[in-house]
Amino acid sequence: MVTVRVPAKVNVQLGVGGVRPDGYHDLANVFFAVALGDQVTATPGEGVTLSCDGPDAAAVPLDDGNLAARAARLLAAHHGLADPGVHLHIDKAIPVAGGMAGGSADGAAALLACDALWGLDTPLPVLLELAAELGSDVPFALLGGVALGRGRGELLEPLPVAGTFHWVFAVADGGLSTPAVFRECDRLREESGLGSSLADVPTPDADPALLAALAEGDPVALAAALANDLQAAAVSLRPSLADTLHAGTEAGALAALVSGSGPTCAFLAKDADAAAHVAAALRASGTCRTAHATHGPVPGARVVKTSA
Ligand code: C5P
Repeated sequence: MVTVRVPAKVNVQLGVGGVRPDGYHDLANVFFAVALGDQVTATPGEGVTLSCDGPDAAAVPLDDGNLAARAARLLAAHHGLADPGVHLHIDKAIPVAGGMAGGSADGAAALLACDALWGLDTPLPVLLELAAELGSDVPFALLGGVALGRGRGELLEPLPVAGTFHWVFAVADGGLSTPAVFRECDRLREESGLGSSLADVPTPDADPALLAALAEGDPVALAAALANDLQAAAVSLRPSLADTLHAGTEAGALAALVSGSGPTCAFLAKDADAAAHVAAALRASGTCRTAHATHGPVPGARVVKTSA
């Protein structure tokens, strides 16, 4: 039996370029791994099977499309294992379809858990390549910490970061589809007359002020630099998110932004006490289903328990 712990992410900067011929968008994506995370336990089994526990377990698809199942099959195929046998149990704490890369996290965790269970010892660069095949956000879940993601988000460069930052995540009722949010971003750009193609939108780049705030461990400077080009699209599709963002800043958060493609909203707090206060105020506000205080950065997917 092998248990892997894996973090969720928030994008402290999500710069979205024009839509590429392959349908993806070039990004300047600064990923930040937070302690809110899932656990995936791999045990020997027949074929690839899944189960899931947690408050949102009913919303997790347990079919072959789940990234954890796809990860197990991809790793087996890469090593020429004809008949992979594994049962993957997901302890789910990351909001489902929430913009925190929870499905991607489970894919990364399954790669690592199966690698250990099957004794494959796959080198990290190969695991990162397999992860990129599974999805744009999966490599970062293996790496953790803070990293700049270029391309569609999969080309990662670890970034220097000092200290610990304190976050609150407000979980919405129901998810948002990532492709739908990117399409809405394109639609809003077309509607504004700017256009949405590669030729219309400048290639995004990491903001030097944001990188300096991370390197210095300065939450006030980071709060001022937080930016998400998908936020307007997420709020356009789910206008009630504006109330959630407002409730968190009213409660004293340094800044608020939509996490990735949403609908989870992220709030930066000045310390752990402020984060606990903001989380309590958000839970009482009626503008979200629940709210969690957490911190980061934390490492990427790692084995936390093995037994024979
Ligand atoms: O890579 P992944 O399968 O996670 O992406 C899900 C969807 O999000 C893509 O099919 C695409 O619609 C959108 N996407 C995008 N540009 C990116 C990453 C994702 O348009 N850089």
